[in-house]
Amino acid sequence: MHRLTNRHILIGITGGIAAYKAAELTRLFKGVGAEVRVVLTDAGAEFITPLTLQALSGNPVHQSLLDPEAEQGMGHIELARWADLIIVAPATADFMARLSSGMANDLLTTLCLATDAPIALAPAMNQAMWRDPRTQQNLEALLSQGVNIFGPGSGEQACGDTGPGRMLEPTQIMQACANLIAAGPLEGKRVVITAGPTREALDPVRFISNHSSGKMGYALAEAAAKAGAAVTLISGPVALATPKGVQRVGVESAQEMLDASLIAASAADIFIGAAAVADYRPVMVADQKIKKGAEEVMEILLTKNPDIIATIATLEPRPFMVGFAAETENVIAYARSKLERKGLDLVIANDVSQSDIGFNSDDNEVVVVGAGGEIAMPRASKAALAENLIALIAEQIN
Ligand code: C5P
Repeated sequence: MHRLTNRHILIGITGGIAAYKAAELTRLFKGVGAEVRVVLTDAGAEFITPLTLQALSGNPVHQSLLDPEAEQGMGHIELARWADLIIVAPATADFMARLSSGMANDLLTTLCLATDAPIALAPAMNQAMWRDPRTQQNLEALLSQGVNIFGPGSGEQACGDTGPGRMLEPTQIMQACANLIAAGPLEGKRVVITAGPTREALDPVRFISNHSSGKMGYALAEAAAKAGAAVTLISGPVALATPKGVQRVGVESAQEMLDASLIAASAADIFIGAAAVADYRPVMVADQKIKKGAEEVMEILLTKNPDIIATIATLEPRPFMVGFAAETENVIAYARSKLERKGLDLVIANDVSQSDIGFNSDDNEVVVVGAGGEIAMPRASKAALAENLIALIAEQIN
């Protein structure tokens, strides 16, 4: 997966002729799966339209610091926090002057002051303006403030001059941005996650299943992808969108989930079993729809399903194995016995007797049980919890 996939990139566009290249830059970032928001200065808007940038970025363009409507959607402080990286391309001499002196007289300079994210500029201006001692002084100041400067290149300029001041090409800017983003803790790792329920067919129209929403497994897949891993998500039927950058394999039954898991796990570094696999399946699957008969009682004979995670744990070599344990009592003790019985490295245990967490809910609260002890993770959204769990797993395997 590309290092910029799922990253929040804020592109600032100031008033220079190279602004037209910012459209291509926006497209390139979107192409590798980054989330893009564009901030356009007044001068920038003289060179390129917000509509072009909105269409390419898939988000409304931010233009004004004091726009009540925009502040309701995503205010300037939220935008500053949202960004993983701010790239200003093109950055004019005027913008460099204002930023280096700490001015906050428009949305873009304000964001640059308010953010903790790295800031990069791709300067673009006439060669004489670039060489001007005041611009060079501002450049020195920006570098000493920790601002990254990409380019400028040298060559023929739009004004007819030749010299330094050409904005770098969009592909070069994107590569330089990727180099700035720290590698995630799971970069280069392959992660396989099972999620959701399984369906065990009785006949062509009926099945036995459970209420698993798949939310925890999907949140883990998203967090693992964000941490840089190549993620395969083996999913039973759920009503969730596939997280960006994640490869999803759709399955129905436990047997199908096992088959897909065996294929994916052979090359995996980490296997996380978050699926609520049906423990049993009907012995007989009718070819035709079972008809209602005269009998008042009907018996369905069930047979045990394979234990997917325990099977994967017997592979040689085997991935780092993480399972879940949903319990209603003796949570830690049962989780520990599951750890040993199934041959796992970690078990994420939760108490499902509390109806507002776990199954089908947006929040969860867990205790991670490993050979070395237990770590309690307090109640949080499944997304936040997933990020903490992935960080913990990354720590253990590194
Ligand atoms: O045995 P129990 O269902 O409580 O174990 C839960 C853990 O085992 C989960 O990680 C679940 O995904 C996994 N599991 C499995 N295959 C099964 C049953 C459970 O992989 N047939």
